Amino acid sequence: QSLRIAVIPGDGIGEEVMPLGLRCLKAAAAKFGLALELTEFEFASCDYYLKHGDMMPEDWHSTLSAYDAIYFGAVGMPDIVPDHVSLWGSLLKFRRDFDQYISLRPCRLLPGIPSPLSNPGDIDFWVVRENTEGEYSSIGGKIFEGTEREVVIQETVMTRIGVDRVLNYALNLARSRPKKHLTSATKSNGISITMPYWDERLKALSAERGYDDLKIDKFHIDIFTAWIVLNPSQFDVVVGSNLFGDILSDLGPACTGTIGVAPSGNINPEGKFPSLFEPVHGSAPDICGKGIANPVGMIWAGQMMLQHFGFKDAAGAMMRAIEDVLAEGASHIITPDMGGSTGTTESLGAAIERKILGG
Ligand code: NAI
Ligand code: MG
Repeated sequence: QSLRIAVIPGDGIGEEVMPLGLRCLKAAAAKFGLALELTEFEFASCDYYLKHGDMMPEDWHSTLSAYDAIYFGAVGMPDIVPDHVSLWGSLLKFRRDFDQYISLRPCRLLPGIPSPLSNPGDIDFWVVRENTEGEYSSIGGKIFEGTEREVVIQETVMTRIGVDRVLNYALNLARSRPKKHLTSATKSNGISITMPYWDERLKALSAERGYDDLKIDKFHIDIFTAWIVLNPSQFDVVVGSNLFGDILSDLGPACTGTIGVAPSGNINPEGKFPSLFEPVHGSAPDICGKGIANPVGMIWAGQMMLQHFGFKDAAGAMMRAIEDVLAEGASHIITPDMGGSTGTTESLGAAIERKILGG
């Protein structure tokens, strides 16, 4: 039972929350007898870019391919390096070249964190987003530019392999959960070629592969977003194309409170390439250097990583530790974004680490 993990803190608060993420992972590993081999890299950061003129060394692909997973902080120093340079030179390369075709985000209302919704109920669902094709294709263009007849076109590309693999992942995830309920985002009433195809493939796969034990339904994306705000506790696993999944995977976590706690996985399920686990937030230049960044998103991302590799006991202990510390909600421990007074990255991360070791 061992995992090789490439650790990339990146920029800004990525460098501040990563040490706490690592301490919690090490605590869980020590307690449950997992061998974690953690190797830190300084590339995929703007500091590296300023020294070397590139975000990553030429051999980054072969270097990182030797690892089971990448544990990633955040990238971006927007005042010094343009965001498209830092993002396209690092994270987006990982997503494409490591075929991380699943973007996975939990939406779960943690104890002690107020939801912005008036009627949140028990929010606990996963958003599965297709991460490689769909609406985000670069096929298209502009003609008659600058004239009254100007036309812009951008095509949506759905492939059978691309659609089937994300739907199968979502079907399997739904099957692993007690509620066994999958909801698909569509818009087949308006987008009349690709979205009916998405719906057909879901129907075909669930029939072919014998998912009779699941409850499977679908919503058009417009009413879907309304339902997430009005009655989020009805959802269990939701799946969407690249665009619809993008919308749902920001809306879902937003309904569960501060951005500082949300984690995310960019997953290559077959394990042919490393998957990447990171907090949803960015490098937060506005609070960087103050030691008050919330470390929960980073720690929870580590928890997702252990869960992904099947280390259920260690992952369960990490999740319980996060929940217990937040439920206690001591204002000298929790960070200001959650209403804490003197709490810091260190105090909150250390409290979670202690719980993992002791509880
Ligand atoms: P951001 O997520 O860095 O910050 C948005 C707001 O949330 C800020 O007010 C920030 O202080 C707050 N915040 C974020 N994380 C927090 C935490 N852990 N605890 C407490 N408060 C927190 O997004 P922003 O400002 O749009 O982007 C800043 C930089 O980060 C840019 O360079 C952007 O490209 C990059 N970025 C990188 C991402 C990644 O590495 N995956 C994701 C999003 C943005
Ligand atoms: Mg987004």
